[in-house]
Amino acid sequence: MSQQPIEIDDQEAPRSDDEGETTEEAPPRMSSEPEHHSGSEESKTSTRSLSGSFLEEHFENGRRYCNEIYYMPNDEPEQIRLAIVHQAYLPVLDGQLTLARVPSSTRRILDVGTGTGDWAMAMAERFNNAEIIATDITSVFQPGSGPPNVEFELDDAEEEWTYNDLFNFIHLRDMSGAFADWNFIYAEVYKHLTIGGSVEIADHGMIQLKNEPPNSYVKAYNGALQSAAEKAGRPIGLEHLERLMIERAGLHFSRSRTFEVPLGTYPTDPVRKVAGKMAMIAALEGLEAVSLRLLTRHLAWKEEDVRNLCAKVQEEVMNPDARAFIPLQIVVYRKMMWTLPS
Ligand SMILES: C[S@@+](CC[C@H](N)C(=O)[O-])C[C@H]1O[C@@H](n2cnc3c(N)ncnc32)[C@H](O)[C@@H]1O
Repeated sequence: MSQQPIEIDDQEAPRSDDEGETTEEAPPRMSSEPEHHSGSEESKTSTRSLSGSFLEEHFENGRRYCNEIYYMPNDEPEQIRLAIVHQAYLPVLDGQLTLARVPSSTRRILDVGTGTGDWAMAMAERFNNAEIIATDITSVFQPGSGPPNVEFELDDAEEEWTYNDLFNFIHLRDMSGAFADWNFIYAEVYKHLTIGGSVEIADHGMIQLKNEPPNSYVKAYNGALQSAAEKAGRPIGLEHLERLMIERAGLHFSRSRTFEVPLGTYPTDPVRKVAGKMAMIAALEGLEAVSLRLLTRHLAWKEEDVRNLCAKVQEEVMNPDARAFIPLQIVVYRKMMWTLPS
C-alpha cells in the first residue's frame, strides 16, 4: 500500500449484519457480570479501594521502579520515552488513535496500563461524550489533569476487575511483559465488555536488523531479554496476540495489522521517515529501560555489562545500512454475544 508503507499485513474479518458497532444498549446480564449503574458518579470507578502500596518507590541501577515486579522504570526519562512512543504511533496509524471502529456514540472506554495517559487524554478529546477510565499500577499520570471526561485510577489489572459498569472499548498498548497470565486478562476483558464492544491490543516485538551482521549485539540483547523475561514468568514479545489465545476467551476476531516500524531516518518515504525518527529516539532511550532490571535480576548480569551491551546495540541500530526496524502488531477483537468462554 503506497499510503501505508510501514504496513506489511492487514487482515479483517468479513463484516456481518450483527456487526453493529458498540451499542448503548445494556446487554443481558449473566450472574458473574458486573452490575450496570449507568451515569452515576460511582459508575466511573472500580470498587477496589486504593492502597498506599501502589505508590512504592524502588531505586536500582540508577532507575526508579513502582514495585518489585514490573520490569520497566517509572521515572522521568521513562515518562518522556512513553510520550515519544505515543507520538510515534500516530504516523503509523495515519493520525488515528486506534484501528478499531469506535463509533461517536461510544459511552465508556477503558485504557489498561495507561502510563502517562497520553492515549487516554487524546481519546477523551476525540470522544468528548464518552467516559474514559485510565488505569495503572503507578501514578505517572497526573490525577485531575487532562480533559474532564478522563478519570485516572490506580488499579492492578492482574487482580479481579471490579468496575461497576461495562465498557464499549478496552485498550491495551505496550503491555508485553506486564502480565503473568494473559488468559486471565482476556477473561476479564470479556466480562467487562458490552455486547458489540471491542478490545484492541497493540504491542511490538524485539528490534530487528534487515542487514544483520553475524553474531550481532542486537541478537545477543534480544536473546538475553527473552530468557530473562521467561525466568521472570512474564514473557515479552507478541505471543499474547495469538488468535487462538484471544478467541479462547470468547472474543471474535475483527482486525489485525502488522507493521515494520523503521528505526531511523533511512526511509525515503516521508511518513516512514517521521515514524522512524521518533521510533529511533524511543528505542534508543528504551534499551537500558527495558533491560536493566531484567538482566541484573534474572540473569545476574552486572549493571555495567548491561550498559555496555546497550551501547553496542545502540551503535548497530544507528547504522543506517543495518536498516533497523521494530515489528508492531495491532489486533482488534469483539464480543458478539454472551457465550461461555472455552
Ligand atoms: C510500557 S508502558 C505502556 C503505557 C501506555 N499503555 C502507552 O501505550 O503509553 C506499560 C504500563 O503498564 C503499567 N502496568 C504494568 N503492570 C500493570 C498491571 N498489573 N496493572 C496495570 N498497569 C500495569 C506500567 O506501570 C506502565 O505504565
